[in-house]
Amino acid sequence: VPTLSAEEFRQVIGHFASGVTVITTAHDDVPYGTTASAVSSLSLEPPMLLVCLKEDSSTKAVVDEAQHFAVNILAEHQPDLAARFATKAPDKFRDLAYTPGTAAGAPLLDDALATLECRVVETVTGGTHAVFLAEVERATSRPGAPLAYFRGQFGRLELQQDEAVFHDVRGLVLGRKLPVGEPLDLTSLAEQLDVPRGSLYHALAKLSGEALVTRDADGSFVVAPLRLEAMEEAARAACAIEVGVAHQTVAAAAEEDVAALRAGLAGFRPDGRLPTIEGWTEAYNAFHERLVAMAGSTTLLDAFRRVSVTPMILSLTRPRELVREAAERSVADHAAIVEAYERRDTAGAIEAIQRHVDNRIAWAHAHVVGEA
Ligand SMILES: Cc1cc2nc3c(=O)[nH]c(=O)nc-3n(C[C@H](O)[C@H](O)[C@H](O)COP(=O)(O)O)c2cc1C
Repeated sequence: VPTLSAEEFRQVIGHFASGVTVITTAHDDVPYGTTASAVSSLSLEPPMLLVCLKEDSSTKAVVDEAQHFAVNILAEHQPDLAARFATKAPDKFRDLAYTPGTAAGAPLLDDALATLECRVVETVTGGTHAVFLAEVERATSRPGAPLAYFRGQFGRLELQQDEAVFHDVRGLVLGRKLPVGEPLDLTSLAEQLDVPRGSLYHALAKLSGEALVTRDADGSFVVAPLRLEAMEEAARAACAIEVGVAHQTVAAAAEEDVAALRAGLAGFRPDGRLPTIEGWTEAYNAFHERLVAMAGSTTLLDAFRRVSVTPMILSLTRPRELVREAAERSVADHAAIVEAYERRDTAGAIEAIQRHVDNRIAWAHAHVVGEA
């Protein structure tokens, strides 16, 4: 029977994501602690968990003695603490705020996301580790997100809800539905939008990566004024993605994909007439996303959506109604892209894509108002 090497096992088991804790205990008022991810909930009645500590861990030796320990679940901003407690340094608690636990004085880290005070009821051995089965006597938690550990690295969990809130908040920022240039009150905004404050915080932090949001001197988030240059930069980034996609797909695209692209042109003139600005925007985005989707990469499509400038252009420009002349030009640009695909003409498609972005930017410059 082939045996698995330690290295192979580590590589594979690293795909199991976990949280990160600091297991603490105390002896003669001296605190001990070690970073541990081998922690699991075990039973609800009675409340029990298990912790695996290596035989050579000095914390393990003290837990053996004290038969008590605390589990401090780290928050996402505490990877430094995880690294500090993963050493053998003698002064791991230096300058660290903690409170001795009520039962046996095991240190409870003040900034931990949650703490659980535990009494050992059984110790078993597994390989190089002692497995402490323990009853949880006291537990506290606070709002926040946990530090995560995955494939040997610290990170944060991206909750599905965070992703949804990010997209919604990005739309609100680009659509100028939030006050511009003044500090946002996260608590009341979260209430107003009916989303968790933490998700809102992450959305705004992510948007500051796109320079759509900045931080003021107090660290509050502020919706940044839109600049034409930012719009232009994003439009060119989106164009670069489309040019890359055209390079890759014009010659090789399946007939039905090209047919779907042509079908998308109909959205620009439902019932033979130009639609409302909302209908136009929908058809416009659908056409471009369909084009980028032809490359078959969800990562690329996601990146493309991130630089989508349609709402930015709409907020920067007036009139708010579709301008017939610009719309007609745009329809012609899109038709040229489809025709180049039908001719399998890569250079022609790229030229049409570039001409379209130039027209779009020129139009935005001509009709710009307000913030820019
Ligand atoms: C993310 C991470 C998770 C760890 N998980 C455990 C664990 O579950 N059990 C363990 O014994 N050591 C674990 N370690 C290693 C210990 O933290 C490390 O050996 C530490 O130096 C032990 O300190 P001590 O001897 O003072 O107790 C982990 C280290 C890291 C970085």
